[in-house]
Amino acid sequence: MNTQVISTILQEEAGTTLGANLIRSGELVAFPTETVYGLGANGLDGEAVNRIFEAKGRPNDNPLILHIAKKSDLKKLWAHVPDRALPLIETFWPGPLTLIFQKAEIVPYEVTAGLETVAVRMPSDRTARALIRKADVPIAAPSANRSGKPSPTNAQHVLDDMDDRIPLILDGGDCKYGVESTVLSLVGEPTILRPGAVTKEMLEAVIGPVQLAGSILKPLGDREVAASPGMKYKHYAPDAEVIVVDGTPEETARCVLSLYYDLLEAGKTVEILSTKQTHFRYRGASATEIGDREHPETLCANLFRVLREIGASCDVILAEGIETGEEGLAYMNRLLRAAGFHRINAHAELLKK
Ligand code: TXA
Ligand code: MG
Repeated sequence: MNTQVISTILQEEAGTTLGANLIRSGELVAFPTETVYGLGANGLDGEAVNRIFEAKGRPNDNPLILHIAKKSDLKKLWAHVPDRALPLIETFWPGPLTLIFQKAEIVPYEVTAGLETVAVRMPSDRTARALIRKADVPIAAPSANRSGKPSPTNAQHVLDDMDDRIPLILDGGDCKYGVESTVLSLVGEPTILRPGAVTKEMLEAVIGPVQLAGSILKPLGDREVAASPGMKYKHYAPDAEVIVVDGTPEETARCVLSLYYDLLEAGKTVEILSTKQTHFRYRGASATEIGDREHPETLCANLFRVLREIGASCDVILAEGIETGEEGLAYMNRLLRAAGFHRINAHAELLKK
């Protein structure tokens, strides 16, 4: 199957019309959102949804998010809309917040992987909204990467993973946030299953206390059940090995440099992911500055791109851990998963040297 790429910056009307026709005929279309690129199918057509799992190589016990273009579409997809969802929808939709609640009958079990709950979000991206509106069905879409790889934040990443597997990629340029949406379950106590650009602090300002699922910053224990099935799979893994180093910026940088030269000596090719605060400390080493520690959203915006681009050309990536407040939580959640939770404490490591 030949994969066509259409720029919606140049041809929004033609691209989204073709995309909507493909979705309505049961095919797959990759499209930009403000978070990452999605791989969409008609969310009311179980057979079309099954094609998503095939194209991604995704285990079919991992449920998908339904994307809508109008807030009022939510009531068709949920058994009912609970009161506490309303201020969240008013404040954060359209935008990078996914909400989970009891599903309505029309939602096929192919979307929910057999669960009685369904995840819904209303993206703010212009192309995404035009596509959903024209398709006139909710679009089921996971991130448009092959399962296990970092999520795609531009059309080239999608093409690298999906060439010849899907008929169409809509290219809307780089994604604004670069990490996937915050996933909040409203079944029982409000609980963040996956952190994103809508932070715990922002949610709490609107609805009061919000819990964090246990597996956000640590691997699931052997006997633990994943609150969100996606949590149990290997994620965001670039080709290179990733190691996270935690500590103050100074200690972190000293430890990273010392590991860097040890690894070089062992014959590895190594790249450092530096930050605005530490980049000058890595002079002479191979380092890529990915953002500002004080503004973790800048780190989020670049992480997946850098993991894909740099991860393909070196053996080991050394990355700095950061504080987990605000968007720092989403950053550390993705980074630690990319590292398979391989984490080194800079202070303890320097004492050993
Ligand atoms: O930003 C995003 O959310 C992107 C764009 C394309 O919208 N989509 C995305 O989808 O990241 P995906 O499939 O890669 O991640 C969906 C996450 C998974 O971790 C899945 O397990 C969880 O949401 N999820 C979906 N439905 C669920 C449900 N009913 N209960 C618990 N977790 C659910
Ligand atoms: Mg994904």
